[in-house]
Amino acid sequence: MSSNVKADYSTVSAIAKFIRARTSIKPEVGIICGSGLGKLADSVKNPVVIKYEEIPNFPRVTVDGHQGNLVFGTIGTKNVVMMQGRFHMYEGYSRHEVALPIRLMKLLGVTTLLVSNAAGGLNANYKLGDLVIIKDHISFPGLSLNNVLVGANDADFGVRFIATSDAYSTDLRQLALSIAKEQNVADIVHQGVYVHVGGPNYESPAECKMLRMLGADVVGMSTVPEVLIARHCDLKVFAVSLVTNISILNEESKEKANHEEVLSTAAIRTITLQKIFEEMIKRM
Ligand code: HPA
Repeated sequence: MSSNVKADYSTVSAIAKFIRARTSIKPEVGIICGSGLGKLADSVKNPVVIKYEEIPNFPRVTVDGHQGNLVFGTIGTKNVVMMQGRFHMYEGYSRHEVALPIRLMKLLGVTTLLVSNAAGGLNANYKLGDLVIIKDHISFPGLSLNNVLVGANDADFGVRFIATSDAYSTDLRQLALSIAKEQNVADIVHQGVYVHVGGPNYESPAECKMLRMLGADVVGMSTVPEVLIARHCDLKVFAVSLVTNISILNEESKEKANHEEVLSTAAIRTITLQKIFEEMIKRM
């Protein structure tokens, strides 16, 4: 955690070289598994698993429910690399450590990034276990200089000022929606706005009410930094939240958000999400 490693071109190139010596698989799709969603890796055929701890200058995981592996292999006819376990800023990782795996994917040949996360449901129409395709985001850390792109711009990866109006590919969102219909799960799939908060505490009822008023449908502590890094280096992005808990807007409620509920709900829906991802990858 919080090392002096920089996610600059020469560091990331050296890691890419290490990976290429371990596997000849050249991935075109990158996948990041959210809390409790590591089983998505079961859909990867002929997997080559490289532990984070084996990779020089790669961060290590600290959260339960996150394994620490890069899984290379195929889904359908495409080569993929999956991050089983991700790095959140609240764990104390630097913005370089959060950026590094995404830039590594870029240098390995990835052109499309699929991201999943566990999130609290703010929209009253959402139920536990629903999937929310992210169409836009609000980032509290991002708006307040805790932005993963702060610092000298690395022009080898992208430009200084990036647009975020097109962050979440319209084509991929449409594709996911049509697949959800075909797979008869359209009733649990929505499109919504993800609000990124710093964490690590779950939000208070007053905070949840505020986030809802601002137009957010789901709330979580991840994804946006990775999406910003991906968009900076011109990866196409699709992101989806799994509603693992319903945000509590009432101060008198006896319910409490907890990590165990997040993990158990994630486990129930892993297969549904896996099937959607598999079909998306086949048709991309
Ligand atoms: N808030 C923030 N992050 C989360 C939540 C939540 O309610 N559930 C899962 N990740």
